[in-house]
Amino acid sequence: MERSSPLLSPILPDSADVAVRVRGLVTGFEDKIIHDHLDLDVARGEILGLVGGSGSGKSVLMRTIIGLNPARAGHVSILGQDAFTADPEAQRALRRQWGVLFQEGALFSGLTVAENIEVPMREFLALPEPVMAALAGARLRQVGLPSDSCTKYPSELSGGMKKRAGLARALALDPQLLFLDEPTAGLDPISAAAFDNLIKLLKDTLGLTLFLITHDLDTLIAICDRVAVLGEGRVLACGTVDELRQYDHPWVQQYFGGPRGRAASGPMARELA
Ligand SMILES: Nc1ncnc2c1ncn2[C@@H]1O[C@H](COP(=O)(O)OP(=O)(O)O)[C@@H](O)[C@H]1O
Ligand SMILES: [Mg+2]
Repeated sequence: MERSSPLLSPILPDSADVAVRVRGLVTGFEDKIIHDHLDLDVARGEILGLVGGSGSGKSVLMRTIIGLNPARAGHVSILGQDAFTADPEAQRALRRQWGVLFQEGALFSGLTVAENIEVPMREFLALPEPVMAALAGARLRQVGLPSDSCTKYPSELSGGMKKRAGLARALALDPQLLFLDEPTAGLDPISAAAFDNLIKLLKDTLGLTLFLITHDLDTLIAICDRVAVLGEGRVLACGTVDELRQYDHPWVQQYFGGPRGRAASGPMARELA
């Protein structure tokens, strides 16, 4: 079958510098299997895009990798550590190495933006208040939010600003890895393109590794190094957008070779500033 094409395997060579390694992952809810022996590698320093139909298990995969959803079988290693079997102290140390932006955004509505960014600092670091405030301010600048947004509540922010504030919180502990679930969903195309540029800039300047779930073909084309296609409970193919366009699988063809896919790569595509 096509998915055995060695070129588009989700497994990188043993020599690759891998930040996240998923092997034989099985997840499910009651009698429903969501992931059926899924394999995936995320190389250190890359932006890996994850696509798949609605309900295919993208968010559950992310949540399972970061330990929020139990796996039925398989292994996940993150930055060389076995994420499932590490003792609690090692797991806590590992959790400090990644930041997460959930699909729902999930800023605490009762906290200001600065207080939101300080939440992970309070959980993991014992820092004096002024130091936390200064760090929160630095994170806001890093994501391009004006300093007066510190004291605002999430309800006072636009959609794009909320996403940036969520990103600032994900960056709070200076992580090596970022997990982003549909960060540009619901944003207008200009805000989405600006957010993509920000992600790329952060990756380039901070050397981050990104696991990025997105429906947005423009995002995939503009910033992802490789794209993994989730379907039938596993990664059907993983490669560059150009490689996936050539890949002979109905869903992959429809997604990357269909009219929307072609439009996204044509003259109407969002441009990277
Ligand atoms: N906590 C849960 N309990 C039961 N079913 C769930 C739960 N979370 C997700 N699911 C189901 O798992 C499947 C994959 O969900 P999800 O990963 O959120 O999809 P998506 O690819 O759209 O992000 C869906 O059928 C969803 O209904
Ligand atoms: Mg989802």
